[in-house]
Amino acid sequence: MDHGGIIFDTLDDVEVAGKRVLVRVDLNVPVRDGRVGDMTRIQRAAPTIAELADKGARVIVMSHFGRPQGVRVVDLSLAPLAAPLAEALGRPVAFAADCIGPVAASVVGGLEAGGVALLENLRFHGGEEDNDPRFAGALAELGEIYVDDAFSVAHRAHASLVAITRHLPAVAGRLMQAELEALGAALESPKRPLCALVGGAKVSTKLELLGNLSAKVDKLVVGGAMANTFLHAGGIDVGASLCEREMAPTAARIRTQAAARGCELVLPVDAVVAPGPEAGHEAATVAIDEVPAGLMILDIGPASVARAIEILGQCRTVVWNGPLGAFEFPPFDAGTQAVAKSVAQATKAGALVSVAGGGDTVAALAGAGVIEDFSYVSTAGGAFLEWLEGKELPAVSALAG
Ligand code: 3PG
Repeated sequence: MDHGGIIFDTLDDVEVAGKRVLVRVDLNVPVRDGRVGDMTRIQRAAPTIAELADKGARVIVMSHFGRPQGVRVVDLSLAPLAAPLAEALGRPVAFAADCIGPVAASVVGGLEAGGVALLENLRFHGGEEDNDPRFAGALAELGEIYVDDAFSVAHRAHASLVAITRHLPAVAGRLMQAELEALGAALESPKRPLCALVGGAKVSTKLELLGNLSAKVDKLVVGGAMANTFLHAGGIDVGASLCEREMAPTAARIRTQAAARGCELVLPVDAVVAPGPEAGHEAATVAIDEVPAGLMILDIGPASVARAIEILGQCRTVVWNGPLGAFEFPPFDAGTQAVAKSVAQATKAGALVSVAGGGDTVAALAGAGVIEDFSYVSTAGGAFLEWLEGKELPAVSALAG
């Protein structure tokens, strides 16, 4: 079925009652001292698993955890994740101390209809990251249907994401479906005008992203320290601000390219400056061409916030990656928060479709308390960035294939 330009099947297209269903999720959550630091990924994985179990499937959950590189690393066992998963599901979760072979087969064999088992870390086997067809075959032996619900690993061509789809009927889980539909609505078939808000520290890490976005969006609003590189390239003195001076020609080229493509690149017109981001410094607001020597730009100023909000008011879709200021150090989160709240309001009013993603971005939006009000906030880091860069995501292609 066509989901906003991307074609794939979903849970609606398979009959799962009584079947053994392998579900690939992303339980790669932060764990400190044996405790889960952030439950978001577990909570987002739960609905698909619960739906399958409710429909009478025998659900076999697979995930990676950390980067053990093909060997068994005790600290990277998924065993401690079985209890938090069970809690999120409100039903018991059996644990298999290996993800293939007799140990896994015996736990799966013991599952009743509606039962759930979690397999040990896929990356304890080198075959996972090698996308090894034999390892994929060994996984596939455990199930009859494959469900991919792990968009946040979709940029990895690994066996449990790609090679396995050659062994079993493959469909998207609800989280993957929601993610692909939201991303499709934002970039593949958006309501226009379409605006991208891009922030973060460096132009150099987001070159491909800026290049791809400038070809797709109508307005590109740049904030964060990366805006300083564009300002410097335009002859503005950014004082002691973070700035990749050697990237000035690249920034100038991105700007010219954007203009040629009919994309308006919008830079800050004022800034909040201080000697450094740490507490105790006096912050001041200055026009962008009056940044005092020795001071750093740490946030976009109120006039830039107003300009961004005005632009968003003209747009029907926004895609957001990267904070607009040094948001970890209040008061330099004010610009990001003000724009985030405005996006949230416009979204709630039905005037804007808003999609955001990336680690820092999610933290900044959580700080503004607006996560629930955006149309969609992706928990994916690398996969979301690669999608913004316009790269093919191997696991999505495998599902669509
Ligand atoms: C993530 O946390 O971004 C995903 O789980 C992917 O993890 P990886 O970068 O180790 O492949």
